[in-house]
Amino acid sequence: MSDSKSKAIAIIRAEHRALGAVINNIKAVLQEVQAGRVAMDFKLFWAMVYYIDAFPDRLHHPKEDDWLFSRITTRTPLADKLIEELQSQHQMEPQALARMRRDLGNYEAGVPGSLEALQTTVASYADFTWKHLRTEESEILPLAEAHLLASDWDAIADAFAQNADPLVGSADNKLFDALFHDIVNRTPAPVSGGLNPHKSGGSKWRCKLAPVSGGHLWRRILVVNSGALGAINR
Ligand SMILES: [Fe+2]
Ligand SMILES: [Fe+2]
Repeated sequence: MSDSKSKAIAIIRAEHRALGAVINNIKAVLQEVQAGRVAMDFKLFWAMVYYIDAFPDRLHHPKEDDWLFSRITTRTPLADKLIEELQSQHQMEPQALARMRRDLGNYEAGVPGSLEALQTTVASYADFTWKHLRTEESEILPLAEAHLLASDWDAIADAFAQNADPLVGSADNKLFDALFHDIVNRTPAPVSGGLNPHKSGGSKWRCKLAPVSGGHLWRRILVVNSGALGAINR
């Protein structure tokens, strides 16, 4: 496998796992809240919703459309229908996030039944997203490997390498680091269901930040959050 191909595929898969990790955290938090084991941490929840909006929706999906999908359709018609479906799913993301924000806001305002509504919205979003990610990994990437040329992979790897550290060098860099410190440190230890979390220190879930050379904080999170990997691949 060429360097560019392996690099591009590794970044795409890592970004999927980062998204999966955050979605799993969202589900786990809601389970704990509904079971009465923890109080709702709205700052944590808003931070996770913001992450989905700021990174996967604004950067990952558009780069798939502009680089990966467009190169595949140039080389083969075999993925045309699938790509059309995936692109329409990308366009549905903002509406799905808007529903999550609405239900979260209602819950924060104390609207009766809003926790259940939020759980339904999150479960639907998680199913939708995992199906989307699995389709890309199990059908689109193999087609890409079969049909794309080395020059295609060079272009895709370049585009996604910019994705990998979207805020490096920007004034928002520290803000993102702080955001993900919050997500890691504030997420409660799931007691049952949903996740298969990394555990250390007894029954507590402790996400230790493993150093990744050149990696941004969010990439370090997914090194230790192995539960998200299982969720995407199941
Ligand atoms: Fe996608
Ligand atoms: Fe994707």
